[in-house]
Amino acid sequence: MSAAPMTRVTQADDGGIRMAAHVLASGGLVAFPTETVYGLGADACDGTAVARLYAAKGRPSFNPLIAHVADLAAAERLAVFNDQARQLAKAFWPGPLTLVLPKAPDCRVADLATAGLDTIALRVPDHPVAQALLTAFGGPVVAPSANRSGHVSPTTAGHVMADLRGKIDLVVNGGATPVGIESTIVACLNGRAILLRPGGLAREAIERVAGPLAGHEREAVAADAPQAPGMLASHYAPRARIRLEAEDVRPGEALLALGAALPPGAEAAVAVRNLSEGGDLVEAAANLFAHLRALDDAGAATIAVMPVPHTGLGEAINDRLARAAAPREP
Ligand code: TXA
Ligand code: MG
Repeated sequence: MSAAPMTRVTQADDGGIRMAAHVLASGGLVAFPTETVYGLGADACDGTAVARLYAAKGRPSFNPLIAHVADLAAAERLAVFNDQARQLAKAFWPGPLTLVLPKAPDCRVADLATAGLDTIALRVPDHPVAQALLTAFGGPVVAPSANRSGHVSPTTAGHVMADLRGKIDLVVNGGATPVGIESTIVACLNGRAILLRPGGLAREAIERVAGPLAGHEREAVAADAPQAPGMLASHYAPRARIRLEAEDVRPGEALLALGAALPPGAEAAVAVRNLSEGGDLVEAAANLFAHLRALDDAGAATIAVMPVPHTGLGEAINDRLARAAAPREP
C-alpha cells in the first residue's frame, strides 16, 4: 500500500494539461471536466492504475468503466463498429453519448477496466479540457464520475475535492460542467440498439438517427438485474430521504423546485433550490447534482422534489431522481 497522495488542483492551462498527462502516464489518478460531469481518469491500458482508481472511488470492481478517446479513429482501434454504431458516432461525437460495442481483438484496454467483459464502453467527450488532455496523453483514459461510489456525481472541482481529497493525485479545474448529467449509454452489439442508461443526450435525438431504441422502461430502475452492470438502484444516493412528485412541502423538508410556481408550504421550506425557473429541462439537468448536494448539505431529513416531465432530458433527470429516492443498499 502506498501512502495517500496529496491531491493537487491545477488550472486547465497548457501547464496544467501537461502535468495531468504526465500524472496519467505515471499511473496516477486525475480528475478532469467533461461536458457531462467530472471524470476520474486513469490510463486505460494500465491495470495497476485502474485498480487504484477502483480503490479511490470505493467502487465494486465488477462495475466496468467508460474509455474516453479523442476521436472516432481512436475509438475504432478499440472496438468493432457496426453500421448503426458508426452512424451514431458520426452524428453525436464528440458529445454525451457512450457506445457499448464488441471489444476489438487487439484492444489494449486492461481487462480490469472492462470487468472481463468482451464488450467495451467508449465515448468522445465534447469539452476543450477533456479533449486537450486526451490529445496530450495520446491513449484511452478510463473515467467513471469523480465521486465516491454511491455519491452524487460531481459537476465542479469543489465537488470532486469534497469526495476524493487525499485519494487522487490531481484535479484539473475547468469550471462547472455544462451538461451536468452523465452520458446516455447505448449498446450496439447485434441487432437493435439498446438504451442502457438515459443521460445527457435525449432519447428522441438518438432515435431520429438510429430508429426506436429498445430498453430502459421506467419501472426497470427497481428491477433486480441492473441493465448496465453496476447501475445499482440507489447509485445516486444523497444522505437525505428523497420524496418524489411532491405537490406540497411538509414541515422540516427542503424543496427541489422546477418552474416558477412553487407548491404550498414552499415558503417554510428548510432550503429551496430551483432546477430551472423557466422549466427548461436542459438547464435543470445542468443544475441537478449541484442542487441535490446543496440541499443535502442544508441538513433537512427529507428533500421534496416537484414533478419533472419525462420528455427530452427529463428521462435522465427522472432516472437519477428515482435512484436517489430508492432504498439504500446495505
Ligand atoms: O458522462 C459520463 O458517462 C461520465 C463522464 C466522466 O464521462 N462517466 C460515467 O461513468 O458516468 P460511470 O463509471 O459513473 O458510469 C459508467 C456506466 C456504468 O453504469 C457501467 O456499468 C456502464 O457504464 N458500462 C461500462 N462498460 C459497460 C459495458 N461493457 N456494458 C454495459 N455497461 C457498461
Ligand atoms: Mg457514476
